[in-house]
Amino acid sequence: MSDTPNNPSTKGILGKHAVIERSATLLMVLSLLVVTIGGIVEIAPLFYLENTIEEVDGMRPYTPLELAGRDVYVREGCYVCHSQMVRPMRDEVDRYGHYSLAAESMYDHPFQWGSKRTGPDMARVGGRYSNAWHVDHLMDPQSVVPESIMPKYAFLSRTPIDGEHIEDLVKTHRAVGVPYSDEMVENARADFLAQADPDSDFDGLIERYGETANVSNFDGQPELTEMDALIAYLQMLGTLVDFSTFTPDASR
Ligand code: HEC
Repeated sequence: MSDTPNNPSTKGILGKHAVIERSATLLMVLSLLVVTIGGIVEIAPLFYLENTIEEVDGMRPYTPLELAGRDVYVREGCYVCHSQMVRPMRDEVDRYGHYSLAAESMYDHPFQWGSKRTGPDMARVGGRYSNAWHVDHLMDPQSVVPESIMPKYAFLSRTPIDGEHIEDLVKTHRAVGVPYSDEMVENARADFLAQADPDSDFDGLIERYGETANVSNFDGQPELTEMDALIAYLQMLGTLVDFSTFTPDASR
């Protein structure tokens, strides 16, 4: 580090660098300049992009019953033990299926990615088990998985819901950007009831939400309960995008 003429670091452009290193103020001003340029280059384009999420066929707003079930999921803190994001790593993809796409949680307010996996990931649990399995499992997890440490949620099947405020819930999600149509809002209550009753006229529900809206008496009881809503939600998770036809658009 001496200034002898033989030291190559004092020559040419590298020599000028020593000036910056010896002046704290100059170093600070120039560092700030570099960080600012870097920041602008990274952040500014985001303001001009219409959408940073790749569009994917099949994503639709949640049906009113699924949305109510999602509220139960959030209220009960299922996210404390369960994540909803399959990471793009081999072991995860082998276990849970295709890695999660940003678009798959675009209608989640707030998102349920989670940061803890005491239990397995939930992002693709839809369709993996029957409704009856979910009922047994939620009523008493140890009855189906003896070593499970998941708490019992039997009270959900004794807690009726009537969808009294479902229209407001749908409207709230519309207010934060979920594209519910006027028709979806107007029929929220009817769709809510129809989805849990296979004997009802659910054509309107299917017309509005598509074939992925799963109609069933989820908890097997005549009464509509929080258990119905929660299972409707669980059975939908990860089933909206058809991965047999999906090809990631790597050009973006
Ligand atoms: C204290 C942590 C904990 C909480 C809270 C919890 N779970 Fe679990 N969950 C587990 C564990 C551990 C397992 C794995 C053993 C089993 O299947 O019971 C599990 C398994 C599951 C499974 C089966 C998943 C699979 O792929 O096999 C479902 C579905 C599930 N939980 C749903 C829920 C729902 C819905 C809630 C909220 C109402 C919830 N869990 C709350 C710990 C928890």
